[in-house]
Amino acid sequence: MIGVVLAGGHGTRLAPMTNVVNKHLLDVFDQPMVYYPLQALQRSGITDVVLVTGAEIEQFKTLLGDGSGLGLNIEYAQQDGAGGIAQALGLTQPHVGDDALVAILGDNLFQDELAPYVQTFREQERGARILLKQVADARRFGVATIDGDRIKKIEEKPQNPETDMAVTGCYMYDNRVFDIISTLRPSQRGELEITDVNNTYIAAGELQYDILNGWWTDAGTAPSKLKASILVALSKGVTFHA
Ligand code: DAU
Repeated sequence: MIGVVLAGGHGTRLAPMTNVVNKHLLDVFDQPMVYYPLQALQRSGITDVVLVTGAEIEQFKTLLGDGSGLGLNIEYAQQDGAGGIAQALGLTQPHVGDDALVAILGDNLFQDELAPYVQTFREQERGARILLKQVADARRFGVATIDGDRIKKIEEKPQNPETDMAVTGCYMYDNRVFDIISTLRPSQRGELEITDVNNTYIAAGELQYDILNGWWTDAGTAPSKLKASILVALSKGVTFHA
């Protein structure tokens, strides 16, 4: 099983901080944002990781090196521009080889340990597995409509979400994901969408899901980045005095 962290894109929602610094190198409480998905993979028992980022790749190499400081073995891939999450994932194929993978978005933080979900995916013969979380602001995310133990559909940032179940940024795929990505066309916003990948697995009846118990947040906007810092600080026992 190979881990993937996707840390490309332009981070425009955090401009001007991201005009010269890659979003995933900004702080979330006391660590660079990219540490959190890397540590989540490491704690789930995955040590071989591919990190995808953009023009700032040398800064990531300076920060993380070969990954041994975090107990990982990190290889790097570079994405030119921001052609979407699925495009970034497709760039990892030479590193992933014939393996299955667990991909985490570089701006996502999970309170839950991912190990049990990764274990369930390891036992799953084929297909894909995603993690869902009930949220108050579903319009910001991919939104899943569930029917019992199966997902009926996922809509990307719907105006009027059918449910409040957000698709979090942890995606587990068998090796066919690369064939699926090679068939994708850019969406209206000009990106290869991870939601299109997931809907392809749904059409094949091969997308499983779990619902997270603990908190989950992205850190890609000023409010959500602040929230992420506060959640991490509270989980580390920090108290705030007026
Ligand atoms: O956070 C979960 C959400 O992430 C999902 O619910 C959505 O379905 C999914 O599309 C995504 O939505 P966002 O609009 O929040 O994604 P964003 O463009 O902020 O990208 C999230 C991360 O993906 C970003 O931190 C780095 C990586 N990325 C993104 C793009 C567009 C890349 O590596 N390359 C890219 O080209």
